[in-house]
Amino acid sequence: MTELSGTTELTHQAGPPRVAVLGRGLVPAGEPVLRGDDLGVLHGDGLFETMHLWDGRPWLVGEHLARLTRAASLLGLRLPPATALLDLLAAVTVDWPTGVEGSLRLVCTRGPEGVGPPTVYATLGEVPQPTRRARHLGIAVATLPLGVTADGRAGLDWLPAGFKSTSYALSSAARRWAVAHGVDDVLWVSTDGYALEGPTANLVWLEGDTLCTVPPTRTGILPGVTAAWLLAHAHELGFTSAERMISPGDLREADAAWLTSSVRGVAEIRTLDGIPGHRAFPSPHTRRLQQLLPHP
Ligand SMILES: Cc1ncc(COP(=O)(O)O)c(C=O)c1O
Repeated sequence: MTELSGTTELTHQAGPPRVAVLGRGLVPAGEPVLRGDDLGVLHGDGLFETMHLWDGRPWLVGEHLARLTRAASLLGLRLPPATALLDLLAAVTVDWPTGVEGSLRLVCTRGPEGVGPPTVYATLGEVPQPTRRARHLGIAVATLPLGVTADGRAGLDWLPAGFKSTSYALSSAARRWAVAHGVDDVLWVSTDGYALEGPTANLVWLEGDTLCTVPPTRTGILPGVTAAWLLAHAHELGFTSAERMISPGDLREADAAWLTSSVRGVAEIRTLDGIPGHRAFPSPHTRRLQQLLPHP
């Protein structure tokens, strides 16, 4: 047993990160799975999904596969049949200890340049402790300008938006900036002053009795499965739900605000640009929202 931010949790050995490859099953984690001319590596031309694994089961696997399938069709990327993807997920998760939270990634690149076929593999590792801790301790977030208007990207019909591309340079740069500036995460803000999303998370906040998130269709942000799940279940907590736009200033006046994503679950924003929110941390609603998810 270990103590984690005031909670007691069981620890089981999950072992080193795992890798399984389509058509080959589980392979030693150090074994190569990509060719050097794979377009996923050369151009970041690929898609991925990251799922939360608990009790041996990936959470909302249908929603993740649906988002992957939509994105693949936008990008003209030939995915294997869903049954093959599910078999791959089963191969990588087999015998994963039930008391260990897993971060399960499914990757599909366009494959070797000019010849294909897509390269498809899955990885599985333990959810890192800082990610689990953030659920209890909250997070310090800084706003970061994204250099686009809130609806600028969604208006570009040549630019597919709202999917998880392996081209992650923007997100990685923002995460590096966060580390360099001593904050836990970043909230991207549009040039016209609206909060959009984090590099790996959606923004969810409470305005009175309404649980809100940013509209993905209008803004081109990622339609997060966690945010969608929370809003779809808001009524169980006595809340209504809505998609709204909000400025960082108004966000500080909200009853509480969170960053959400599949693996982290729900992490309350403790401070925004160093300033605490209008309500005391922690919000009594943080635990209630977290209880809507399977995360321990
Ligand atoms: C840019 C971005 N927004 C939001 C999310 C949260 O999405 P989900 O809840 O589907 O994990 C992610 C997840 O990695 C992301 O990369």
